[in-house]
Amino acid sequence: APTRTFFIGGNFKSNLNKDSLKELVPVIAKHQTAADVVIAPPALYLLEAQSIVEANNSKVKVAAQNISGKSLGAYTGEIAAEHVLDAGIEWTLLGHSERRSIYCESDEVVAAKTVDALQKGLSVILCCGETEHQRFVENRTKEVVTGQLGAVHKALEAANLVDKWSKIVIAYEPVWAIGTGKTASTQQAQDTHLEIRNWLTTISQSVADATRILYGGSVSAANSDELAKQADIDGFLVGGASLSAQKFLPIIDSAK
Ligand code: G3P
Repeated sequence: APTRTFFIGGNFKSNLNKDSLKELVPVIAKHQTAADVVIAPPALYLLEAQSIVEANNSKVKVAAQNISGKSLGAYTGEIAAEHVLDAGIEWTLLGHSERRSIYCESDEVVAAKTVDALQKGLSVILCCGETEHQRFVENRTKEVVTGQLGAVHKALEAANLVDKWSKIVIAYEPVWAIGTGKTASTQQAQDTHLEIRNWLTTISQSVADATRILYGGSVSAANSDELAKQADIDGFLVGGASLSAQKFLPIIDSAK
């Protein structure tokens, strides 16, 4: 069976402040685990978070929550991949459902940002997921999710970057499970992860075997052990529960 190192992402979203960040990040940085752990603080605190993990000689990595997808230049309010790399940071999230829905990022925009990030040398946590209506009314989960991922693959092909799938971790986050306390059932999550894995075989068997697929959406210490046992769940992307060490560390400890 393929070995994929378990991966836990903490997406702080637009939360915390200087003081709470300085309290939380060292605790995560010092926590011993075999899993890959990546935390995504608000952009203003990327440098602070990076210097804390470095000061602790930690394996924990820092991620931006978004990048502009543009070169340096006249893009007021935006942070470019160049800035993230200049801060010594290796990861970015892209395509989070909040970026897609609140900030109107289309599949094509997410695909272009992914190309930009990979071209410049960042690794990407690429988010996808269906809405409640798409799953329960239209019964289109597989089509929606593979459509989102397919737009990225098409852009990678056009840019001759198909080998960069090795730098992508997929986060499957059903929109109806994000911040709602409604987790997808273990079976719903595993089934969709398997559909994503099967879709990845259309790129290649080795991409399907090697790519980590994370589950996100109301992950907590109460459900993480069972989810982690599923064959195609290779980690988590955690929102709310990543804001407190007491909640986040047990989730990290569910790493299989
Ligand atoms: O990116 C993580 C996320 O959207 C899940 O949020 O608060 O449901 O864990 P939450």
